[in-house]
Amino acid sequence: MDIENVSIDEITQNIQTQTSVSSESLLGTDRQNDLDKGWHDTDRKAIHEDYWGNVVYREAKARLDEGELSFDELWEHLNIHEFLEGSAAGRKAQAKSAMRGLFTNTASENTAASGAALHRNCIKFMHKGHVGDISPFSMCSLKRDRMLTLLSRFVKPGDAIVDLGSGWGRYSTLFAHRMRDVSIYAGEISEAGRATTKLISDHYSLGIGSFAFNYYEWNGLLSVLKECKRDRVVLFSNFSIEQATYINLDLYRDVLALGKQIQFVHIEPVGWQTLPSQDALRFSTPPARRLGPGQGYNKNLLVVVKKLADTDAIKDVNVEPNYIAFGNIRNSGTLLTFRSN
Ligand SMILES: C[S@@+](CC[C@H](N)C(=O)[O-])C[C@H]1O[C@@H](n2cnc3c(N)ncnc32)[C@H](O)[C@@H]1O
Repeated sequence: MDIENVSIDEITQNIQTQTSVSSESLLGTDRQNDLDKGWHDTDRKAIHEDYWGNVVYREAKARLDEGELSFDELWEHLNIHEFLEGSAAGRKAQAKSAMRGLFTNTASENTAASGAALHRNCIKFMHKGHVGDISPFSMCSLKRDRMLTLLSRFVKPGDAIVDLGSGWGRYSTLFAHRMRDVSIYAGEISEAGRATTKLISDHYSLGIGSFAFNYYEWNGLLSVLKECKRDRVVLFSNFSIEQATYINLDLYRDVLALGKQIQFVHIEPVGWQTLPSQDALRFSTPPARRLGPGQGYNKNLLVVVKKLADTDAIKDVNVEPNYIAFGNIRNSGTLLTFRSN
């Protein structure tokens, strides 16, 4: 999508024809999540406290307490564990493996079924519009490889990366482990997510600056950016702006007003917000209209980016729908990159 050749009205109309929106919220408001029956940040936080705490933190702690494990072994293990235990597709793959009757010993059935599931091509994968089926093992390698390859285009020694909505630290820990002379910060709303990042960072001396971050209250982010000695910063997000039904234009304006050289790299499921094209819509689904204007995954990121581009606050905008998906290819990540002007 070439953002220069469409108007903000076209983008807005396209969004309005596909889902229910509050037009006053399309550029964000201070407390958008106070919208009646809206998705509240407290609810989103609670969901992830439970998920990261029970599925990932507990496992990371148990594995690290058990003994020596390299960073890569732990990272792979957590990604695979999260898939097998935390997703419906993972549980189904385990059940199928167990059902084949290969394992009779009940005590070891779960472990054996998990082991067999690792080799099943049970995950849909999409990269740059190409789709295939892969196993959890391949998913792990591809997540690591695709993301490091992507970031290598934008990150230079001496930069900082700030991972927004960083979850348990899937990418912040990977970047910190792989990139030399790059300062890594991880902003996350859930304490369980931050605790997991800190556990891994401390164990492997990764030096990640973990901080409390909420898309609706970004003063903490501004403080981190001000205190960071690096002038060039990559602001990265992977499927986390999705959690804010409306992202606030002022978040971007305030970040840009700091005067640093900021490169934005977002991977977010907003392909449906680009002008309707059969391809974008095949792999991206708008939030159901019945949810009403205040609920559902993000509905305005493209509007905010277009507004920033129209006011010359940013340049080099690139929007690539159908960029990447692991699992639900109907909710694929669009790659959005742009930088401060
Ligand atoms: C789908 S997860 C993605 C996590 C991580 N980026 C990754 O790729 O593994 C979405 C993350 O956004 C966080 N989140 C939810 N609401 C948020 C908000 N209002 N502000 C900041 N982060 C939020 C969640 O706690 C969760 O960690």
